[in-house]
Amino acid sequence: MNGEKLMHQRTITIEYESHRDDSTLSPADRALLDAARSATVLAYAPYSKFRVGAAARLKDQRVIRGSNQENASFPAGICAERVLLATLSSLGTRETISVMAVSYNGEGLKNDKPLPPCGVCRQAMAEYEERIGGPFRLILSGLHGEVLVFQTASSLLPLRFSGTELPG
Ligand code: THU
Repeated sequence: MNGEKLMHQRTITIEYESHRDDSTLSPADRALLDAARSATVLAYAPYSKFRVGAAARLKDQRVIRGSNQENASFPAGICAERVLLATLSSLGTRETISVMAVSYNGEGLKNDKPLPPCGVCRQAMAEYEERIGGPFRLILSGLHGEVLVFQTASSLLPLRFSGTELPG
């Protein structure tokens, strides 16, 4: 034994801003969150009655939206975040996301807490950042109340699997 430690205890921290409500956001961020909130009406969520809306501001200032699209075969449903990312990729645009906002409107719920994105969407957003070669900010909020802001979507999924683990 040369005294080298065989085990290390490590800690991962996730940094984000917590705003009591949207009043302390910049006007541009507040407008984007409004776009996400209004995109909830475009959801197709007859099974969960949980309507999720996402809106992204691109670097060229265009705003595109996505919403969850469910299916009677439940696993075929797609979350709002990934609908948005797939829409953007399918447009063939080379413009990239600078900020994304996600909100929801759940029937019978208070809708006053930020929605933590599902694990699959975290994975998809992290890889999208890799594709566009840089971070985008992520804003999470219900229809009102607390707003969380992350400087990079990848921070929501530390120790993630990525294409760099694959051969070749
Ligand atoms: N959902 C999203 O669209 N985004 C998330 O981050 C979490 C969940 C959708 C999937 C499903 O249509 C409904 O919310 C209930 O899980």
